[in-house]
Amino acid sequence: MDKKRPILVQGAMDVEINYLKETIINLEEIELFGYKFYKGLYNNYPIIISKTNIGLIQAAVATFIAITNFNPVAVINQGTAGANSKDIHNHDIVIGDECININSYITSHKEETQGSNPLEWELLTFKEGKDEFLTIKSDKRLCDIATKCSEQHVNGKIVVGRIGSGDMWDNEIDRIKWFNEKYNILCEDMESISAYTVCNKFNIPVIGIRVISDNELTKEQYERTSAIEAQKYTLEICKKLIEGE
Ligand code: 5AD
Repeated sequence: MDKKRPILVQGAMDVEINYLKETIINLEEIELFGYKFYKGLYNNYPIIISKTNIGLIQAAVATFIAITNFNPVAVINQGTAGANSKDIHNHDIVIGDECININSYITSHKEETQGSNPLEWELLTFKEGKDEFLTIKSDKRLCDIATKCSEQHVNGKIVVGRIGSGDMWDNEIDRIKWFNEKYNILCEDMESISAYTVCNKFNIPVIGIRVISDNELTKEQYERTSAIEAQKYTLEICKKLIEGE
């Protein structure tokens, strides 16, 4: 690995980056266009922690600023997410081997007074001339490294699969099940797809790591403090990356 290029670790909220900030040394705060970055060392290797703020646009802007200013060797977008399956519980960790924008739809046609039925919508990514169902893959090596850290996580299980991202918080059971059953989406967050999209444009390896903080299907309440577990797991991934695995 090129020793000069830092690892970029992103989190949307303070609770998702505080543990990282406490753990890295020589912390220096840098503000760019209103976005906070924290530069430091972890295991003697340069790391940048980025607070993206919440939502797809914020995360896309923060990723662009980070890439163009810090030229990271890899990007880990981590934080909390809601589970889309009864089999995935609070404290489990989802490694996103791929990601999809769950805010990109085409609806069916309905006449006036026929209302709206989101369960009839189709996920679709609009591209001039060839709209398609599109997922973006994580970097294979990062995904392999992330999977190898699974024994380090003691509070839940590790699941590898598809993360859905959108500017929405779903509380409708049928809709949550629809994402899982029709599109094989394991969990929902509001930032990962932005990191995957921007990193792909710049050919920067990216991976999403999400700890489950809530599960509407099993009535597990939102536990924002679970965010620390994604940060600990991310540091294990960083450790292996730095060791050159
Ligand atoms: N749906 C959407 N986003 C969620 N987050 C945690 N749980 C969910 C959920 N069920 C994350 C998002 C966002 C913040 C509100 O928490 O990524 O940053």
